[in-house]
Amino acid sequence: MNKSLRLLLCVLVPAAAALLSGCERPPIDTVQTGFRGTGMEQIYNPRTLLKQASLNQAPVAPEAASADGPKAKDIYKNVQVLGDLSVAQFSRHMASITQWVAPDAGCAYCHNVENFAEDAKYTKVVARRMIQMTQRVNQDWKPHVAETGVTCYTCHRGNNIPANVWFAPKDRKYANNSVMGDLAGQNLASKSVGLTSLPFDPFTPYLKDAAPIRVNGDSAMVLRGDGVNRSSTKQAEHTYGLMVHMSESLGVNCTYCHNTRDFQSWEQSRPQRVTAWYGIRMARDLNNDYMTPLTDTFPAHRLGPKGDVAKVNCTTCHQGAYKPLYGAAMAKDYPELQSVAKP
Ligand code: HEC
Ligand code: HEC
Ligand code: HEC
Ligand code: HEC
Repeated sequence: MNKSLRLLLCVLVPAAAALLSGCERPPIDTVQTGFRGTGMEQIYNPRTLLKQASLNQAPVAPEAASADGPKAKDIYKNVQVLGDLSVAQFSRHMASITQWVAPDAGCAYCHNVENFAEDAKYTKVVARRMIQMTQRVNQDWKPHVAETGVTCYTCHRGNNIPANVWFAPKDRKYANNSVMGDLAGQNLASKSVGLTSLPFDPFTPYLKDAAPIRVNGDSAMVLRGDGVNRSSTKQAEHTYGLMVHMSESLGVNCTYCHNTRDFQSWEQSRPQRVTAWYGIRMARDLNNDYMTPLTDTFPAHRLGPKGDVAKVNCTTCHQGAYKPLYGAAMAKDYPELQSVAKP
């Protein structure tokens, strides 16, 4: 081996090793999700799936309680949502939400245990609204959650605060470096968008506000009535930020929903894309009708850097699985969470 070749190898081998260390170790499984070709091919890492499966087990439901006997609203003083349950069913519900949301602190997380009727703790006020929010998802968002439905556990998993929530991020600038220009809410490797440099808050425009999610304009270089070209490159970057979030939160590739030969075309997309379309609208509904109105109920230390309340995105429920808890239909064991209670 001549000297310069050896020198070249000395450079190339570590460079190749460095490059490949960013790749995943084989074996990798691929599944064809639609028309043949690489445009609709899902790549799975079986080791990731194995780890995920153990994190997504639904707890075993307690036996159903008897509907007989007096109703909760006849016995208790301050029951505003679950009054039509029997006392036995009501107690089963309290035991379940304790296990799902506050297994360590127990009843005292929401109650003054000297007086269960009192609403002094903010957690109880929030929990009452959460019961209504869960009922709303199961009743009105069936195009997304189907018969699988959700319970408090879908988001909370035994935590007081769900492990995945989002806040509006604080404004960030390049430190003392005007030469770099404006960060413009992007250009930092951010976890929210899979460590890409895409805009790091795809949530405010799409999961709270209803900015159009698209890349191609419907007309060339034409400004809308408000004088802003919404189909700008920036808009496209935000769209990709959201798409990366959606893929990451479900643990799938873009091909789970799209045919990559034509991202825009609904005809060539899988039915899962329609489910996802409803998911985006559902997240907006939960954030605007349930979470944001609770802002003043929460203590200041629970709010984000801009004073907004914690909000829901795809990861809040999915946590890396294509269906939360891999589709375990735990909601059916809690009929009181299936439909919005009449006041
Ligand atoms: C995550 C919060 C939370 C936890 C934990 C919790 N509760 Fe409740 N509890 C509530 C809410 C909310 C209501 C009111 C429900 C309604 O308005 O329909 C309530 C109401 C009650 C009431 C009715 C009081 C009255 O007179 O109005 C009783 C009794 C009760 N809970 C017992 C318990 C017990 C016992 C535990 C522990 C095993 C418990 N709760 C754990 C949130 C909670
Ligand atoms: C769609 C996801 C979702 C579901 C379902 C859900 N929650 Fe929540 N919950 C949240 C989010 C987001 C927050 C805000 C996190 C925070 O407290 O900052 C929250 C906060 C709470 C808090 C306040 C915790 C604290 O310490 O600040 C309580 C109590 C609570 N939820 C109870 C419940 C109960 C009970 C149910 C079921 C009836 C439920 N949640 C269902 C998403 C959910
Ligand atoms: C879970 C399903 C799902 C996954 C995964 C997904 N998308 Fe999407 N994508 C959608 C939906 C739904 C829309 C339409 C959103 C709307 O209009 O509200 C969309 C819209 C788009 C658009 C805009 C098309 C147009 O009309 O201009 C592009 C581009 C796109 N996705 C690219 C991607 C890329 C790139 C990935 C992977 C990083 C990806 N998507 C992953 C569901 C998905
Ligand atoms: C409130 C909890 C919740 C939130 C938030 C949520 N999902 Fe889901 N999602 C579910 C449940 C439950 C199912 C299972 C429905 C079923 O069994 O068909 C599901 C199913 C799906 C499916 C169908 C998977 C398949 O293979 O059939 C897609 C795609 C999906 N969600 C995408 C999203 C996207 C994208 C977001 C964020 C914009 C989102 N979800 C937010 C609860 C949620």
